[in-house]
Order: sequence, then C-alpha cells, then structure tokens
Amino acid sequence: MKFGFIAHPTSVGLKRYVKMLDLLQRNTQDQHTGYNRELWGKANLVPFMNFAKITSASGATCEGMIKYMPLIAEEMIADPRAIAERVVAGVEEFVADGAELVGLGGFTSIVGRRGEATAAKSPIPITSGNSLTTYAGYKALMQIKEWLDINPEKETVAIVGYPGSICLALSRLLLAEGFNLKLLHRAGHKDKAEMLSHLPEQYHHRVTLTGDPDDLYDECKLFAGATSAGGVIDVAKLQPGSIFIDVALPRDVNVDARPARDDILIIDGGCVTATDAVKLGGESLNVTIKQQLNGCMAETIILALEQRRENYSLGRYLEPVKVLEIGELAEKHGFYAYPLASFGERIDRQHVTNLKRYYHQDIYAIDKGDTSQRLTFIDNIIAQDPAKEDTLDRHHQFINPMMVEFLKQQRCDNVFRKAQGTMLYDNDGTGYLDMVAGYGCLNLGHNPSAVSQAVKTFLDEQGPNFIQYISVPEHTAKLAEVLCHLAPGEMGRVFFSNSGTEAVEAAIKLAKAATGKPGIAYLKNSYHGKTLGALSITGREKHRKYFQPLIQAMVEVPFADLDALREALQRDDVGALMLEPIQGEGGVHVPPAGYLSAVQQICRDTGTLLMVDEIQTGLARTGKLFACEWEGIEPDVLMLSKSLSGGLLPIGATLCRSDVWQRAYGTSDRFLVHTSTFGGGNLASVAALTALREIVAQDLAARADELGSYFKSELQTIADQYPFIAEIRGQGLMLGIQFEQTFDGAVAASAREFATRLPGDWHSTWKFLPDPVREHLQAAMTRMEQTLGEMFCLKFVTKFCLDHQILTFVTANSSTVIRIQPPLVISKPEIDRFVSAFASVCEELSTFLD
Ligand SMILES: Cc1ncc(COP(=O)(O)O)c(C=O)c1O
Repeated sequence: MKFGFIAHPTSVGLKRYVKMLDLLQRNTQDQHTGYNRELWGKANLVPFMNFAKITSASGATCEGMIKYMPLIAEEMIADPRAIAERVVAGVEEFVADGAELVGLGGFTSIVGRRGEATAAKSPIPITSGNSLTTYAGYKALMQIKEWLDINPEKETVAIVGYPGSICLALSRLLLAEGFNLKLLHRAGHKDKAEMLSHLPEQYHHRVTLTGDPDDLYDECKLFAGATSAGGVIDVAKLQPGSIFIDVALPRDVNVDARPARDDILIIDGGCVTATDAVKLGGESLNVTIKQQLNGCMAETIILALEQRRENYSLGRYLEPVKVLEIGELAEKHGFYAYPLASFGERIDRQHVTNLKRYYHQDIYAIDKGDTSQRLTFIDNIIAQDPAKEDTLDRHHQFINPMMVEFLKQQRCDNVFRKAQGTMLYDNDGTGYLDMVAGYGCLNLGHNPSAVSQAVKTFLDEQGPNFIQYISVPEHTAKLAEVLCHLAPGEMGRVFFSNSGTEAVEAAIKLAKAATGKPGIAYLKNSYHGKTLGALSITGREKHRKYFQPLIQAMVEVPFADLDALREALQRDDVGALMLEPIQGEGGVHVPPAGYLSAVQQICRDTGTLLMVDEIQTGLARTGKLFACEWEGIEPDVLMLSKSLSGGLLPIGATLCRSDVWQRAYGTSDRFLVHTSTFGGGNLASVAALTALREIVAQDLAARADELGSYFKSELQTIADQYPFIAEIRGQGLMLGIQFEQTFDGAVAASAREFATRLPGDWHSTWKFLPDPVREHLQAAMTRMEQTLGEMFCLKFVTKFCLDHQILTFVTANSSTVIRIQPPLVISKPEIDRFVSAFASVCEELSTFLD
C-alpha cells in the first residue's frame, strides 16, 4: 500500500531550506532533461522524498511519498480556508500518484478542522497522525518517570495547550497513571466547566486549570506541550530540574536551539525512532534514511504497513485506546519512542538522571546549616552501593560529561571495583588486563603488596605525615638520600611535590632562579604537564591554545635536530634545556642513537642546564632504572613522579646538583621561595622508599628490558603483515604502535562519487561555487579524513577492551599511537595474550588494508 504525507516547515529557516531544496531539485532536473517551462511553473507542494519500499521489523511492507507545503504555521493560520483547499489539492496530487492514505503533518491538518473537513472532501482516508505523536510523548514521560524514580502523586504535570487533541489524549493517559495535572489553556477560555467536561469526572479533583503560563513555573517541573501557537513557555523561567516534553510542532518553548542551561531538559517528545530492523529504503545509494521520525508521519507509515485504509486520529477526541493501539502497532513494526532526543541530539539516561536531585528533595534538599542533615546526606552517599550507571551518571554530572560521553562512544565506559597487579575487575568481577598502567604510574602493578604493607604499618603506628615546615620529616630525608645516590649524575638536592607537572614547575623555577635567564628550550611534540609553566614548555598546540599567553621566552626546538638545538642554546636569554629521553605522550618517539649524549655536549659547551624529565621513562620503564643510563648522560636537573610511590600515593620529585640549588635558593631570603603544603610528607616517602626498594629488588629494569625486547619483536612480526601499522616503537616496556590508516582523498572521492550518481551536473555546480566556499569545504574534507584515521586507531582500543578484556589507550599528543605500557610485573603469558589479541584485531580489521 502506498501513502502520501504532507509536511510543512516549522520555522522560517526550515522554510528556506524547503525553498532551497525546491530550487536545487528543479535545477538538477533542468540540467538533466533540458529547460522545460512547466518545470519552473508554480507548484502546490514541494516533493521531498519517496520511500521506494519500507520493510518493517515484522516484515510488512509499504511505499510512500513525502511532499512539503512550503508554508510556515503562521502563514497557514492567516488564511486557513485557502490553505485547506491547497491541502485537498495536495491529497489529490497524491491520489494521482497512487496513494491510498494521506497523513497530514502539523498545521496541514489543523486548517481542515484537525483533518475532519479534509477527510470529508478526500477520496481516500486521512490521518493527522496525532495518536502516535501522543503515544510517543506519553512514553517519553513514562521513561523519564522511571529513570528519575518519580512518584506520580507527588509531581504535578503541566499540560501546555489544553484542550488541544494531543493534550487532551495525553491528559487522560497521565491521569490514569496517577499524575495530578495543571492544564494551561488559552487565556481567552473562560468556561471551566465546559473545559473539564472533556475529561472523565472521576479525575476532575486531580486537575486544575489556568490561562497564565506564569502559574506553572513554580508549581511544576514536568511539562508536556502541544499547542498550535508555539513559543508559549519561557525557558528562562523554568525552575531547575524542569523537563519539558515538547510533544508536537511548533515548539512550545521560546527557543530554537538547545538552551545553555544544563539544569533543565527540553525533549523532542512526539518523535519515534525506527530500529535497525526497519528498512526505510534508500540503501541503494549506500545511505540509510535517518531513523527518527515525527510521530504523525510514523503513524501514516504504520497504517499503511497494516493496510488500514481508514480515517484515523481526526478531530479533537483521540481515543486513549486508539492512542495505545497505534503505539503497540508501531512497536510491533519496530518504531519506538526511544531513544530520547533534544533538538535532534540524542539524550541518554545520564542527561535525565542529572536532574534527580530536584525530584528527591527528601534526600537532596538539605538545610546546609544543619549538621545532622549534612551528615545524613554524606552517610547516604557513602553507604550507597552504586550500580555502574550510577557512577557514570555521577561522573557525568559532577566531573566531566564529555569524558563520560567519549568513553561511552568508544564503548569503554568501565567502572572498576578491584585492582591487583596487572588486572582490573569490574562490578561483575570480569577481569581486564591493564596495558595503560595509570599512564606509567603503576610500574609495580596495582596495589603492590610491599608498598601497601609499608603504608599500612606507617598508618597503624600513627606516623607523623604533614610536618614538613615545622620539623624535618624522617622518611622524606631518607628518600632524598636514596634518590640522589641512585639517580644519574651528581644529584645533591631534592624538592618534593605531588605530581609530574609540579615536579616540572619546580624545575622551571629552579632554572630561572639559578641561571637568572628567563628562557628554557624545549622540544617540539614534548609533553611535560598541563599547569601553566609546564604547558609553556609542552610542544603541542592542541593543549596550549586556550591558555595563551603562556610564560614568554620559552624556545621550541625541532625533535632530534642538533643544529637547531645548538642555535637555541646559544641565545643569551636561554639558560636551560628541558627534554624527555623518549617522548612518551608525543607518541613514543625514541631519538636517534647518540642524540642524548650530543645534547649533553651542547649543553656543556653553551653553559646550559640540562634538565631531563624522566617522569614517564624513569624507574625501570625503559629497561634501565633511568633512561639517561642508555647513553650515560648526567643531567643537572632530573624530574620523577608517576611510579615513584608505587602507584599508591601522589608524589613528584625534582632532583638537582647541589651547586644549582645553591645558586637558586641557597640564601636566607630564598630558601623558602618554593614550597608545597603536601609535597615531602612522610607517608608518600614511606611508599616511595618501599617502591624503589621493590623496583631494585625485583630488578624490574632487567625485566622490562628482556620482556620489552621480546614484546616488541612479537608485535613487529604482526605489524609486518599489516600496512596499517606503520611502526612499533619504543624501548623496554615503553612501546607504541603507530597506526597509519590513511583516508587521504576519501571524503573528496565520496563526494565526487555521490555527485556522479545524482542526476544533473553537480560537477559544474562545484566548479561554480565561490572560491572561499570550495576552499572551506576542501579543508573540512581533509580534516575529516584525518579524523577517520584516528577513528580507526580508536577501534583497536574498543576491540581490545570488548573482545579481549584488555585496556589500552592512545597517547596524549597523538591519537594514532596506541601506548603499550603495562605494569613492569607483567608476565610473559600476559604479553602473549596481548600479542594474540593484537593479531586477532588486526586480522579482523584487515578489510582496511590499503
Ligand atoms: C614526561 C612527562 N612529564 C610530565 C608529565 C605530567 O605529569 P602529571 O600528569 O602527573 O602532571 C607527564 C604525564 O604524562 C609526562 O609523561
């Protein structure tokens, strides 16, 4: 059975879009067949698309056509009789094309007395589609009720646009669910008894009427709207926690885009989404039609699939049973009210549960001055045994929504409960092999028992922790001595802090104070941390661009370019050089052999302080206790962090020669100009002393060297078979897989290909586009192609996680490099497990061979 559907634009912008489509379609046709006066004559409706064959989830089929009435609501309402006639003419156009049922979108039904008048003149059955629209709005509200755990008796729902047909039907359904309603009618309506008469008497006591939207904002947080006027609700007045289910077009809120407020939600309430089992046609061009449809059109499709040649959803009274019937039929055919969307953008459970606190005042509305209420609140949160979704929701709401959405998009939104050695375990007890190891801070693995034990003992014995600047902490002093003796070069002083970036900050200040020179040279693509000082010598624009101006006088030098380095270090304003022996976050780049010792020589020649950041490379990661040892270099300043305290406590350390420290801080005015409340506490030092002991006792450096060589060569064997792996790089257990999946030219080719298949001469259309338009499109296509390469790399991360329960991630500066930096306690069988997973993922993705 074939159906027709008359849509109309709901905003001036969309009307112009329809005009644009009309112009382009006719132009294409013109170029295809030659000029034809009729083609350029006045048309009643603008053809939009044809569904050649729709196959529903249950296997039923139909076909259909959509055309636009190129008018917005105001234009139709201004002259309803004339438009009603155009609608009837439109129905006849569809009949001529073989339609046996026509759906009337939005105002095209309203102008003909909600379809009744049109149906009377139409040779075929008509529907306004409002029953399924109502059903979708109702189901959206029910979903929200479930996610927010709402007690209907406690929340009054505001119905905006009563007694319009959708609002009326919705009201009856919600009353049956136990909700109390506040019905907003047009201000002119006075006869309340008449209005209430539309609802069964048994519900009247749960309903109040108002003609003033201002009556709703304080009392209600849940809204459902379907007026014919649109724009009734002022979004700025919605109280925090408000959810507006905008059931039908035009929108009932006074905004055209998603508001910036994250304490309210506007839901596209009358839409349904077809599951993948529904085929809407059009796949032949390798594009599927978007599966989200307005309820009114979906109802027309459902009736056609059901071969129901009958009028449906006409007039003011939409029977709740018919609303439920069409909803059930829709679901049978694979059309659902979920997932929810807001201004076309998908809304997840988290977006809704973010508003939970506004609905559970008993828990959340604490009097902040009342200690016992505060305590109960804290105790409740602590005592909760959260499901995975609860933690994701919480992180989404209170920490970083984009991070959670990114992890979800990569299907790596894990929440872990337990960690031991190389393994992490989720709520279900599923174990994951951790190849990221806290970005290098877990060289000893998760919860190393010797370090945990030392920390427990210190705590049990009530050891003094933060006593630094009123006394001298015993364990910190020991740690400083051990570090100075183990580290390369003539280290004589240590400043303790709490992170890598703080260790780098301390080095920057030390260099400035010791040399009296403002500048520090650093390498392109380096990574030294994200506080402002460290960022000033981090060679990646992506991290820096929002924070300019950074510290001036820092000089960037290309990686592994000795001439450029010499030139930079000869400058009078540069007193120090900062570098990583192997660039970690830059994508695991090992400099050529001899580079580091040549760098040291240049530093000596130019009187420059050599500052080496071993925050990632240090403590056995690369196969030596310090990566400096590979070329025997002796830095003037050395930074450590990450694994220094065995992955249990934050710590950072900046080591330097004593003469350097003396120059910087060795006077009575200077010795306390750089301090830190937490840095240098005894507890972290106890952990670090034990961690260092363990790293040496277990000879993790030798282990990393041996296992790393084996690992690298195994990975290399696989990489050799797949051109999309460009290189396996690194040293010891600091490895990186460089992906090179090029999509250069792909987007441009697909646009050309698509254009070739369309009727008309799109190539000459492209040729005649203004230069800036073509240049921008070209730049966008190139960027898109790069993004595809990164997407390919991230697919490995996803497949490692989901198919093999192995955790990996890309490096901070390069999204086409996967870091392989497991705990150094990893076993050979675990390495083999990774290698075989890598082989399998490469094989599975080998359709992407170039
Ligand atoms: C070489 C290097 N330096 C500094 C840092 C910054 O350390 P943090 O993240 O602890 O501030 C990192 C972190 O990855 C690093 O790899």
